Amino acid sequence: AGPVKGHHFLHIDDFSRDELWAMLQTGLKVKKQLKEGDESYKPFAGKTMAMIFTKPSMRTRVSFETGFFRLGGHAIYLGPDTIEFGKREATKDIARVISSYNDVIMARLFGHQDILELAEFSQSPVVNGLTDYNHPCQIMADALTMLEVVGRIDNTKVVYVGDGNNITHSWLRLAARFPFEVVCACPEGYEPDAATLALANAGAGSARVSHDIMEAVKGADVIYTDVWASMGQKAEAAERRRVFEQFQVNEQVMAQAGEQATFMHCLPAERGTETIDEVVEAPYSVVFQEAENRMHAQNGILLHCLGLA
Ligand code: CP
Ligand code: NVA
Repeated sequence: AGPVKGHHFLHIDDFSRDELWAMLQTGLKVKKQLKEGDESYKPFAGKTMAMIFTKPSMRTRVSFETGFFRLGGHAIYLGPDTIEFGKREATKDIARVISSYNDVIMARLFGHQDILELAEFSQSPVVNGLTDYNHPCQIMADALTMLEVVGRIDNTKVVYVGDGNNITHSWLRLAARFPFEVVCACPEGYEPDAATLALANAGAGSARVSHDIMEAVKGADVIYTDVWASMGQKAEAAERRRVFEQFQVNEQVMAQAGEQATFMHCLPAERGTETIDEVVEAPYSVVFQEAENRMHAQNGILLHCLGLA
């Protein structure tokens, strides 16, 4: 593969704090413009983005496709049955062929190694739309939402409650670049990856694991949760419901956190499992603002990765 025409977006901490800050500010600036009804900014005119999905999606697919279109580009959806990623041909062949047609590739895959290989052989930037290991675009949207709601990322306490999964790993990698605290409240055996936890502590922020939800959430600025059984783990759902029983974000947990606490969730949410309807619908919940911000954060990411901002 030749040199990449831009930058891959595979993990949050592949970028410096200044670069991440610039992406967030660009996202906010373009959001304001679009919200004011100004659709004249078309930096992606003449550009195409291929979107590879091996898993289901609502937010990621629709926010990427809509965001890219509104800024003048064209996006192509390649679902699980279209290119049959991992089945029909080698990943390195997919990378070289698709990147010879498209200016950028967005991919949602199972194995993290697969997106690394896609990026290795692609001449166009590859943007990670979720793997089993991480979900960096989601946490960039959450960081943007924190700037709007809390007013800052620095010197905050974010408590992630539930499974130490792809969402948790991206929070930890954000903490490698920004000075804030991440506490992962999870059952024994479901902690985040130890090396990723260490990245946060070796970087700008700090991170720890707690097995006591009520201890962990006290004084949090953000209480964040996600499904207990991620895509690909649905066969374990019943077992996980038993193991995670004490880790539901309900009204008692939010009260323990304190009045300053904002509730966040990447969605889709399973009401009655990791959280409840009353919390999702409460005034302190910003889950739909987060979802909307996927589009704006990703516009910021794409503009920077394509060298257009
Ligand atoms: N939060 C998120 O990535 O949602 P989808 O799975 O619907 O894309
Ligand atoms: N952890 C979840 C996130 C969904 C956006 C999953 O991987 O299914």
